[in-house]
Amino acid sequence: MDTDGSAGEGLRMTHIHNWALDDAANLAAVLNNKKIHDNLRDALPFPYTVDDARSYIQFVLDIPKDSAYYWAIVCGNKVIGSIGLLRKDNVHRLTAELGYYIAEPHWGKGIATGAVREACAWAFANTDIARIFAEPFAQNVASCRVLEKAGFSFEDVMRNNAIKNGAVIDMRLYALLRENGKGGKGSAKCNGGD
Ligand SMILES: CC(C)(COP(=O)(O)OP(=O)(O)OC[C@H]1O[C@@H](n2cnc3c(N)ncnc32)[C@H](O)[C@@H]1OP(=O)(O)O)[C@@H](O)C(=O)NCCC(=O)NCCS
Repeated sequence: MDTDGSAGEGLRMTHIHNWALDDAANLAAVLNNKKIHDNLRDALPFPYTVDDARSYIQFVLDIPKDSAYYWAIVCGNKVIGSIGLLRKDNVHRLTAELGYYIAEPHWGKGIATGAVREACAWAFANTDIARIFAEPFAQNVASCRVLEKAGFSFEDVMRNNAIKNGAVIDMRLYALLRENGKGGKGSAKCNGGD
């Protein structure tokens, strides 16, 4: 999905778009940051190379239709983050898990909140997904705040639900239901790049 793009005064609207293999170098630059890895699950290699990024993007391009929806978050044409919805299976097949990250130079500008709103609005308008949930580490205050700003409800603390960097930690469960989740276009702005 692409949305309209530009704003004046040296700022450009951020938006989400489909991945392309050309995004690999920028994606690798975003993900070579331990602060980002410390808030994600352990699946990603660190350091994160351009080859890792190309493999990931190819994986996304090959995903079976309607099993997941992944987008690059871009400022102008440059990738500055990632957002995705992974559909669960069996009785949970109308449920999707949300994940996202933003390049550190762009933190605190409302970009993640805008991308979450946009991805959720798209999912409720274009798929049969009934519930979108996210499970940030409890200590990840910024991510919890993003979800609250995007209209998610806090459902509960999941105690001792993860081990990260050797520590057993709590996670928080947030959800947005179809009936509450009209979302809307992201409204964040970014400057030219990092
Ligand atoms: C979490 C993350 C995506 C947020 O991206 P972002 O674009 O900076 O988010 P936004 O600007 O939309 O909103 C961040 C909010 O958190 C707040 N915040 C950030 N750090 C905070 C802190 N330590 N304490 C309290 N609030 C904090 C900001 O002030 C802002 O809230 P506000 O608009 O009410 O002031 C980004 O920090 C990131 O990529 N982190 C690493 C990966 C990650 O955590 N991904 C999510 C996994 S669940």
